[in-house]
Amino acid sequence: MSVVAIIGGQWGDEGKGRVVDLLAQHAHMVIRYSGGNNAGHTVINDRGTFKLHLVPAGIFNPETTNIIGTGVVVDPAALLEELAMLAEAGVTFDNLYISDRAHVIMPYHREQDRIQESLRGDGRIGTTGRGVGPAYGDKMERIGIRMGDLLHADTLHQHLARALDAKNTWLQAYGGKAQPLQALHQQFVDYGHQLRAYIKPTHPLVQQALSRGQDVLLEGAQASLLDVDWGTYPYVTSSAPGAAGACQGAGIGPRQVSHVLGVFKAYTTRIGGGPFPTELTDETGNLLRERGHEYGTTTGRPRRCGWFDAVAARYVVELNGIDYMVWTKLDILDTLPTIRICTSYKLRGETIHYVPSSIAELSQVEPIYEDLPGWQTPTDALRTFDDLPPNAKRYLQRLEELTGVPTAIISVGPARQSSIERVPVAELFA
Ligand code: IMP
Repeated sequence: MSVVAIIGGQWGDEGKGRVVDLLAQHAHMVIRYSGGNNAGHTVINDRGTFKLHLVPAGIFNPETTNIIGTGVVVDPAALLEELAMLAEAGVTFDNLYISDRAHVIMPYHREQDRIQESLRGDGRIGTTGRGVGPAYGDKMERIGIRMGDLLHADTLHQHLARALDAKNTWLQAYGGKAQPLQALHQQFVDYGHQLRAYIKPTHPLVQQALSRGQDVLLEGAQASLLDVDWGTYPYVTSSAPGAAGACQGAGIGPRQVSHVLGVFKAYTTRIGGGPFPTELTDETGNLLRERGHEYGTTTGRPRRCGWFDAVAARYVVELNGIDYMVWTKLDILDTLPTIRICTSYKLRGETIHYVPSSIAELSQVEPIYEDLPGWQTPTDALRTFDDLPPNAKRYLQRLEELTGVPTAIISVGPARQSSIERVPVAELFA
């Protein structure tokens, strides 16, 4: 039995969806453990190209049980839309379960997200506008609505009335629209009817899988540098996307996790505001954006692009106990004559090897680079490590040295088969 956690190693969009899709071929269960439809996981397989926001990427294997875990915040309208898209493509989802403890994103959360961003002015976070932060806020404030509530009209009415008391006062104070209790109640009772077959206590399912020795994949969304505790606060999301959050959101004890796979792009991207020490605002940044199709899956916004940051990567490795690396989009670097890696920062004239907690300091750091020669050869058709050009091997080996973690998988293209397995996927579950 193995429990494998897949964690985003940078600021999101590392290609976790494709890695989960690859590993889900071997897994009995995939659990999405945090975040909401702020995530966008692109999966390209023999069924087509899919942009998943909430449904676990194991959905394409009918043998795999897919769970939207307790740590996720669910917008029922967005979920139903995604299910309709899958149904249209002929994908069945009898193998989908939604934790009855997962919290619901309500329309007033989206409204609150919008107003809060406009109040932040120049300091806006650049949220995805999906209401994710306000939904997590209400969960902590203990006025949240849970998926299980949608199955009980009376309970929902009671919880909604309590929440709207607080929400409508807030919304009206900031020029938003008050939301009517009865209409909202009816709409969410209706969502409950549509999703009734999937909303379940998921704890027994997960425990059963573990006690039967089945292989379980914990599917991360967002990434460690967006973690509410360890990321570039306040330019973060409102959840814990790392390995600790995986245990919490899935309901699995840390001693049951066998491997933690960190997914990192061979360079770095970030979407939304916040410090990004290795950002490139020049032609090379544009080249990475165009070659890498670096536009948000959820919002279509252009992503900021830059060199690989080994200082931040080491920090993320430590935070999550990452024991294998997955490198994605190596092929995007194929045309570059020189490739840079940030190995330390300079802050007020001093060399530092850590990520400062203060965003004012992180915004001031100057990256210290090491330059490596590029390979200037296409790698997208290569399927073994030995076939890679010598300079590509050298680049990856240097990344391994700097992060202290061996490589499991390298991806050189968007499709499932465009992968180089240094450690066979089956071995990760052995
Ligand atoms: P929120 O999660 O919508 O509140 O957005 C907070 C920050 O996290 C913003 O900078 C978003 O751009 C970023 N973010 C949230 N989800 C993702 C993701 O899946 N990929 C990349 N960035 C994300």
